[in-house]
Amino acid sequence: MVEVSTSILSVKKGEEAEVFLTLEKSKTDYFHIDVMDGKFVEKDTYQKMLEYAEYIKRLSNLPLDIHLMIEDVEKGIKEFGDIEPNMITFHYEACKNKEEVMKYISKIKDIHCKVGISIKPETKIEEIYDFLPYIHNVLIMTVEPGKGGQTYLKEMTKKIENLKKYIDEKKLEIDIEVDGGINLNTMEEVKKAGANILVAGTAILKARDYSQIIKELKK
Ligand code: DX5
Ligand code: ZN
Repeated sequence: MVEVSTSILSVKKGEEAEVFLTLEKSKTDYFHIDVMDGKFVEKDTYQKMLEYAEYIKRLSNLPLDIHLMIEDVEKGIKEFGDIEPNMITFHYEACKNKEEVMKYISKIKDIHCKVGISIKPETKIEEIYDFLPYIHNVLIMTVEPGKGGQTYLKEMTKKIENLKKYIDEKKLEIDIEVDGGINLNTMEEVKKAGANILVAGTAILKARDYSQIIKELKK
C-alpha cells in the first residue's frame, strides 16, 4: 500500500487553517513537517514548524511525520516529541558517529514514536544498513534537502531499488519514504523502485483538487 505524506512547508501565510483541514478531508495519510535550523540547511523553519505541528495536532487526528533537518537532533526530539507525533526522522549526516545514531534511535523510541533515518542524495544507502533492524522508516532524499519545488534526482531511483532489495532479503519490515520532486510524473518510477510513502509538497499544494492528486499518488 502506498501512503501520502503532504509537506506543508510552502503553505501560504493566512491560508494555513483552510489548507490543513482540506488536506485532512482529502485523505492525506500524514502531515510532513520539514524542520530546518539554518545550520544543517540554510533555511530556518524551526519555530514556524513547531507552531504548525502544534496547531495541526489540535485540529486533526492525522499522524505527524516530523523530518528533522537540524544539527541539534536531541533538542528536536525533545521539542517535537512533546507534540506526540507518529514518527520522527533525523538525518544520518547530522550524527557524529554510530553511537550517536543509536542514542537518537533509543531516545525516539523512549517517547513511543516511530523512528526514521534520512539520508541526503550523496550519502550511500549502505552506510545505514547496520541501523535498519532498529528503525521503522528510511527517508531517502530525492533532492538536496533545504527547499521545496526542486526536480527529482533520477540517480536516486537506483538507491531506492537497492534498499528495497536489501530489506526484502533480510526480511525487515521498514517503510521506504521518498522526499523531493515527487509528482504525477515521477511517482511511477519511485513506486516501482519500492517506495511506499511518498512525500509531496508542491505537487499537492499547487493542485486545484487535493483529493484528486492524493488519490492518484496513492494508486
Ligand atoms: C526538502 C523537504 C521536502 C520538500 C518537498 O528539504 O524535505 O519535504 O519540501 O517538497 P516538494 O514536493 O515541493 O519537492
Ligand atoms: Zn521533508
